[in-house]
Amino acid sequence: MQPLRCLVGAFAGIFTLGMTVVTGAAQEYPSRSITLIVPFAAGGPTDVISRIVGDHMSRTLGQQIVIENVVGAGGTTGSTRAMRASADGYTLITGHMGTHAASVALYPNLAYKPDSDFEPIGLIAGTPVLILAKKEFQPKNLKAFVNYVKANEKTLNMAHAGVGSVSYTTCLLLNHILGVKPTTIPYQGTGPSMNALVAGQVDYMCDQIVNAVPQIKGGTIKAYAIGTAERNPALPDLPTSKEAGLPEFQASAWNALFAPKGTRKAVVDKINAALSLALDDEVTRKRLLDLGSDIPGKDRRTARALAILVKSEIQKWTPIINAAGPSN
Ligand code: MLT
Repeated sequence: MQPLRCLVGAFAGIFTLGMTVVTGAAQEYPSRSITLIVPFAAGGPTDVISRIVGDHMSRTLGQQIVIENVVGAGGTTGSTRAMRASADGYTLITGHMGTHAASVALYPNLAYKPDSDFEPIGLIAGTPVLILAKKEFQPKNLKAFVNYVKANEKTLNMAHAGVGSVSYTTCLLLNHILGVKPTTIPYQGTGPSMNALVAGQVDYMCDQIVNAVPQIKGGTIKAYAIGTAERNPALPDLPTSKEAGLPEFQASAWNALFAPKGTRKAVVDKINAALSLALDDEVTRKRLLDLGSDIPGKDRRTARALAILVKSEIQKWTPIINAAGPSN
């Protein structure tokens, strides 16, 4: 009989071990809710896009994706928080062209390397950038906007979501093309800066289409052009910057999911698969497309494609930012 007890004992050990292992192993990822850091204020483009795909992904993964808005420093505060989080798959971030590309040139002491301190998961959507102004802004079209801003540079102000954000970086490009340096006013995101634009507290800004479509359709702001080669189906009457006479202003952003470096490949693959399912879901697609998002095809949805995008965007925006120099 003796051998049995030790077997039980031994078995108990394995069991316990087994239990931990069994428990750990048995409980598929995710076994609890996932925090998705949005490094800008609620209601802005990155927040809206994250919530739209998060809804569907929660259903696929069987656990809630909880949005945590961690604001500050053009999105680099939230990105740093995500970089330092445990690589267990329970903390993710929606990064974008600003936090994971432009910030490299704008923050010499950036606490993270976008192309090596994160596990790229997948691209959520491309977000073309628009030139916008308050409703009562005088210029009627982009040509008049250019002349007016040049003539009134000293008295105008421009809103943005912090140094390193998309709205900051793309209007840095616009102002550089126009040769102007208006006063710039930072907000914790383009959700709040859009409110200021609608209220007429600021004169103009550059912003991602998903944040502007409802306001443009509501007639509460002015839109002069979209910074892409083609018009956008969500705003068919809005001319491209080329059509409107400022072809140099080519500006499009993107938002994507990242995890802390070291997050297991199996977990990254599972989240990527859930994201891709969301991007194929009819309701989710309509919500994104109605806001002018550019939903990536399968080939652009891989983690590898995102890693390549991040590197190429750092290479693209760094010389533009260095040429423009700091804003006011
Ligand atoms: C936001 O969600 O507020 C934007 O992505 C900010 C920006 O980068 O302009």
